[in-house]
Amino acid sequence: MAHPYWPLYDLRVTTPLLEIRLPTEDELYCLLALADAGVHDPATMPFSIPWTDVDPPRRHRESLQWWWSQRAQWRPDDWSFTGAVFVDGEPVGVQDLGASDFARRRVVSTGSWLGRAHQGKGLGKEMRAAVLHLAFDGLGAHEAHTCAFADNGPSLGVTRALGYEENGHTVVLRRGEPARSIAFCLDRARWSAGRRRDISISGLESCREMFGLEP
Ligand SMILES: CC(C)(COP(=O)(O)OP(=O)(O)OC[C@H]1O[C@@H](n2cnc3c(N)ncnc32)[C@H](O)[C@@H]1OP(=O)(O)O)[C@@H](O)C(=O)NCCC(=O)NCCS
Repeated sequence: MAHPYWPLYDLRVTTPLLEIRLPTEDELYCLLALADAGVHDPATMPFSIPWTDVDPPRRHRESLQWWWSQRAQWRPDDWSFTGAVFVDGEPVGVQDLGASDFARRRVVSTGSWLGRAHQGKGLGKEMRAAVLHLAFDGLGAHEAHTCAFADNGPSLGVTRALGYEENGHTVVLRRGEPARSIAFCLDRARWSAGRRRDISISGLESCREMFGLEP
């Protein structure tokens, strides 16, 4: 049955390998445990917000607050669809898709992580392809942007494999040291050239207004 109050709970993106949807409260706890088991080599920091450097239980509380904030702060002109990634019903990671003033700008950005046990098997590429399908096919995006640190091979690998073009860089402080973050753009024409036919979206109609679009 359709969710009566928060239609985003009904939004699902499904590929032959995985499903992306909002997690339930219990599934959030599974994601906390997944992160506890490791997201990356502690010697490196792939995230611009270094949340994995915070030790539990503070990390648990702050992660929950961050997840809840994604819902509490949702606005049609500033949203972030922070989906959990499920393989055979088990949460394996997180893939988000966000935008501000989407109705006019038609630009989205993405971020993601997988539990270490699930990395290096093609899931990172698959889950990004899934939310790009939601963005371009489902929501009518014109461009998708992303960035990654220059030493994050797997993230850069996903981005390049999906046809993004490098379009600049910035230097940010990471653990107090300067680090190069590379920016990429995938436009609609390049997405269309590699468009997948085996990804499906359900439950989007009742969410369109929440994404700032005409119902
Ligand atoms: C980034 C992340 C989501 C990628 O997911 P993944 O499942 O490990 O990546 P995939 O197996 O889908 O690999 C994607 C591509 O990167 C390539 N790749 C993997 N490791 C690589 C490396 N060290 N250097 C270069 N390319 C690499 C793969 O060959 C593949 O390309 P292909 O399809 O053309 O062969 C995952 O590794 C992760 O969660 N890392 C820790 C958190 C993180 O870095 N998040 C992103 C922050 S920007």
